[in-house]
Amino acid sequence: MTFRTFSLGLLGTFSLPWLLIVVVPYATMQRIQSVEFNEDDDGRTGPYVPARPGRVTDGAAVYAANGCYTCHTQLIRPTYAGTDMWREDWAGVHVAADNIDTRRETSVFDFNGEAFAQIGLTRTGPDLSNVGHRAESYVKGTETTPEEWFLMHLYNPRGDFEYWSSCPSNGHLFKVQKKEGQGSGEALAVKARKGKEVVPTAAARALASYLYSLQKDDQVPYSLNYRPDKKRAIEQ
Ligand code: HEC
Repeated sequence: MTFRTFSLGLLGTFSLPWLLIVVVPYATMQRIQSVEFNEDDDGRTGPYVPARPGRVTDGAAVYAANGCYTCHTQLIRPTYAGTDMWREDWAGVHVAADNIDTRRETSVFDFNGEAFAQIGLTRTGPDLSNVGHRAESYVKGTETTPEEWFLMHLYNPRGDFEYWSSCPSNGHLFKVQKKEGQGSGEALAVKARKGKEVVPTAAARALASYLYSLQKDDQVPYSLNYRPDKKRAIEQ
């Protein structure tokens, strides 16, 4: 074998996988076309605009900075690759009696507004694709709002014996300050040392709002509608 053949072989061996694994997917993801609803399948027309109220951009930055993605995924895998779609509460809401079923696979549009799609590294903790819905069910019938529940969870995941979680605490996102008079209106309803109160920082609030925004129940076009039964929206 000549040196030339060897060099060309080496170049081919590394450049082909690089092309297929890095360049082609990158180029495809840069050119995402908007998806349209159509009258026959969806009962409406116009482009699909992902709806997601909440502090998505700055909340995602706090989520990334604190390494939440190391233990939590945000990916309902395609059905050929796993059974996530059938996990109640992970993939969406499923109430058979009321004919409610919003379960679906994750699409590229779910990360709209985020600088990076944080699909996650491991599933040490539960998938958070629809954690906003779960928070709503945890606080049902109480005075606590879902955002407050997230703040309490972030401050002390083991503070509530009804819901004892092994998720690490993120106390650094909160300020423990001296309680003046009645206390600040922003203080969290958690136990604090005498004369002190726990107040969330702006980063904690952004993260709580981001977590609450994780609920995928907007109507997606039929062409994106990877639901178990894959019914046309118009028939539902
Ligand atoms: C070391 C791994 C680890 C890291 C890092 C981590 N978590 Fe968790 N988290 C868990 C585990 C495990 C659970 C489930 C605990 C249980 O049910 O007892 C959990 C549970 C949760 C829940 C409740 C989910 C539910 O359905 O009830 C939320 C919300 C959450 N984590 C948010 C976060 C956020 C936000 C961050 C980053 C600031 C984070 N976690 C970082 C491991 C982790």
